[in-house]
Amino acid sequence: MHPLSSSTSASAGPATHRLRLWWRRLGRRGAAGAAAFAFALLAAAFFLAPSRDASAPSTASYPSYGHRLPTLVDLTLVAGARERGAVCLDGTPPGYHWLPGFGEGSDKWLLHLEGGSWCRNLTWCAQRKETNLGSSDHMGRRAEFVGILSDDQLQNPDFYNWNKVKVRYCDGASFSGNVEEEFQDGTPFFFRGQRIWEAVMSELLSKGLSRAKEAFLTGCSAGGLSTYINCDDFRALVPKASTDLRKKFTHCSSDMEPGQCIFPREVAKGIHTPMFILNPAYDVWQVEHVLSPEGSDPERLWQNCRLDITKCDSKQLETLQGFRKELLDAISEFKKKKDWGMFINACFIHCQSMNSLTWHSPSAPRINNKTIAESVGDWFFNRREVKEIDCEYPCNPTCHNAVLDQAYKEE
Ligand SMILES: *[C@@H]1O[C@H](CO)[C@@H](O)[C@H](O)[C@H]1NC(C)=O
Ligand SMILES: *[C@@H]1O[C@H](CO)[C@@H](O)[C@H](O)[C@H]1NC(C)=O
Repeated sequence: MHPLSSSTSASAGPATHRLRLWWRRLGRRGAAGAAAFAFALLAAAFFLAPSRDASAPSTASYPSYGHRLPTLVDLTLVAGARERGAVCLDGTPPGYHWLPGFGEGSDKWLLHLEGGSWCRNLTWCAQRKETNLGSSDHMGRRAEFVGILSDDQLQNPDFYNWNKVKVRYCDGASFSGNVEEEFQDGTPFFFRGQRIWEAVMSELLSKGLSRAKEAFLTGCSAGGLSTYINCDDFRALVPKASTDLRKKFTHCSSDMEPGQCIFPREVAKGIHTPMFILNPAYDVWQVEHVLSPEGSDPERLWQNCRLDITKCDSKQLETLQGFRKELLDAISEFKKKKDWGMFINACFIHCQSMNSLTWHSPSAPRINNKTIAESVGDWFFNRREVKEIDCEYPCNPTCHNAVLDQAYKEE
């Protein structure tokens, strides 16, 4: 499933073409139809997405909530990675940030797989080699641990004292490729996401993950897809506890990459590990790149709505409601799974677990008066069944709706 596979390259062109043609015919055919089509195209549309950091929407500018500044955690480069060929796009070793647990959390582990879209052709992947998403030479040496990664009990009530790891994303394809060839068109490129996953896991196992009593794999955006792909593998690796314990204590959760729902929809059917799906009904990334990509809108009718949901007219809102309905239909079969959880809020946003204000704060988005952190915790620790499906926009006044600016759009 590497983005450079020939079938993918071949399908990207026609998909764009079909989308354009179809969009012109949109007219009165109705919102549900529009959403259905967009949904069917998610996989193709994903490859058309730019390779910027998909976790970028404006939530990052919210002030941090808690009783102190976020803890900064140093980057660790994976030892022996080059020898195993487990390297970033440019051949540098991959990395992660590990914040050791304490107290009752010292034998519990929460991993977070970083997101950041995919690169879909050699030009894009070459550009990505010059960034933090393709090379550890360009990664910040320290990461702020906030939201689900925070060690502040106020901000992260259930997991604050756990070992927490942010795994950096630098392979360009959701930790999934494994191409032996080191050159493409004479230029060095390493598509080794699967080996990076294995190398990071093996290092963390030796640092204590193998003795974990409880483990939780999470991810956002392109990293959210990785949790689906690697979930059962993760459960098999940790811990050395009995199968029953593993069954009870190894969980996965994702802020689904909107452009990847089509994949989880299929992948999820085969997953045995309990999962929690955290996804806004109106994911900004999905609206911007899948429901209404610029290329499909030459007259720019969607331009304002795409950046700010309050600017959508009634017809556009109708299309968005159809889109939400389509998502709910897609996850309805997972709603039946007893040990799965979900939180689908009526917000216009992307990646809510990595931000203190959206994860858990007095002004965080809520469903049934519970924040995302409380809902995920309730599900993880079996305090109640959590299958939260919010009402339709604009029903929920607790939402933080992103307003994207021109610069974001044009990146
Ligand atoms: C790579 O993808 C970008 C974005 O779609 C596109 O502009 C560019 O033409 C593509 N390059 C090649 C060589 O296909
Ligand atoms: C909502 O939850 C908060 C605590 O998080 C509580 O103080 C408040 O009373 C609750 N509101 C309602 C209407 O239940």
